[in-house]
Amino acid sequence: MAKDRGRSNPSPSPIYYNPPLEKGGCGGIDEGEADGRENMKIVLVLFIILVLLIVAVAAFLWSGTYNIAATVPHWRATHWVLGKIRDHSIAAHSKGITVPSFDSPKLVEGGFKEYHEMCRLCHGAPGYSRTEIAKGLYPGPPDFTSRDMKIRNEGELYWVIKNGIKMTGMPAFGPTHSEDELWGIVAFLKRLLDLKPEDYQTMIKAAGLDKEPEDHHHSHKSHP
Ligand code: HEC
Repeated sequence: MAKDRGRSNPSPSPIYYNPPLEKGGCGGIDEGEADGRENMKIVLVLFIILVLLIVAVAAFLWSGTYNIAATVPHWRATHWVLGKIRDHSIAAHSKGITVPSFDSPKLVEGGFKEYHEMCRLCHGAPGYSRTEIAKGLYPGPPDFTSRDMKIRNEGELYWVIKNGIKMTGMPAFGPTHSEDELWGIVAFLKRLLDLKPEDYQTMIKAAGLDKEPEDHHHSHKSHP
């Protein structure tokens, strides 16, 4: 027993020491409350900063200081972010679109007519110089006769032509065009890069569009 006591002697001491440890724990809870109050303060300060920021941004935007002019380009960073948002949005929304066969010459011919009448002014065509409309737009429309145009697959092209792009000059042609016409434009776009000015003129004649430019000339003349 005595030996046991001797042995058990060291063991009571941890039991003895425990209460102070627990007390320490109690003190910890007090500190925890203090910490909690500190955290609340930080949250409050952050909240006030956030509110002030929102007020400052709103005041800036409402003051009219921001220059909305098409002649003042975006910052590089803004341009980059907007480009990324556009590209990811187009990719996500055009997923799963089934592309029809482009074999029918009628489809391409129809697409060519639409392109010549509705897209050329902004996106150019072989043998035509950039129009004033294209030069004045911001963001500028990509020139589809140049090799710098973005590579987009058929589904993406179709989606853009059908739905347009917000806050740019790119119109949505879905509300005014049939599926065949929309796909015809895509089919034609795929060929556009290989067309020489002569080929384009041949297509104009074949489609009977060489009679219509009279109207265009007329409106150009009345426009000094
Ligand atoms: C009033 C001018 C205008 C007309 C007309 C127009 N577009 Fe656009 N289009 C734009 C602009 C501006 C952009 C660039 C948008 C941007 O920067 O994200 C654009 C972008 C596009 C894009 C995406 C290009 C890319 O790689 O990001 C496609 C495809 C396109 N247009 C096709 C057409 C077709 C096809 C037509 C005719 C049916 C047409 N557009 C008519 C102004 C126009």
